[in-house]
Amino acid sequence: MTPEALLDLAKEAMKKAYAPYSGFFVGAALLTKSGKVYQGCNIENAAHTPTCCAERTAFFKAVSEGEREFAAIAVVGGKEGHITGLFPPCGVCRQVMQEFCGPDFLVYLGKENDQFMTATLEDLLPFGFSGGEHMK
Ligand code: THU
Repeated sequence: MTPEALLDLAKEAMKKAYAPYSGFFVGAALLTKSGKVYQGCNIENAAHTPTCCAERTAFFKAVSEGEREFAAIAVVGGKEGHITGLFPPCGVCRQVMQEFCGPDFLVYLGKENDQFMTATLEDLLPFGFSGGEHMK
């Protein structure tokens, strides 16, 4: 699947965002190594803390269906669904990516006018925590 096709699926997911508090609509499309795509949107809550980002919605949908191997994720977002620039994943979502993905996991960040930038997980979370020696 091309980055453009994955970004289109992220844009489709963005339309389902439940964001009555921030007004930021975010969509993600997560590609498994076997070629399946799981979409996610942000889901807000009046108590704020229970809010789930679009990326984590996609990851948790996929993992709860038995997926463990991921190739890439596309993310788009913007006020009321208008994409005006990059919407980089928050730190918590980067840590969730770290749990399931290697340093070469690809993150496509959509911008206006169908442009996008590509980053690896290593770019976004250098020197990240993955348990390592502590968990043995
Ligand atoms: N949000 C995401 O969906 N993904 C991120 O990585 C950053 C933030 C959502 C959470 C909240 O609903 C809104 O964007 C504003 O923070």
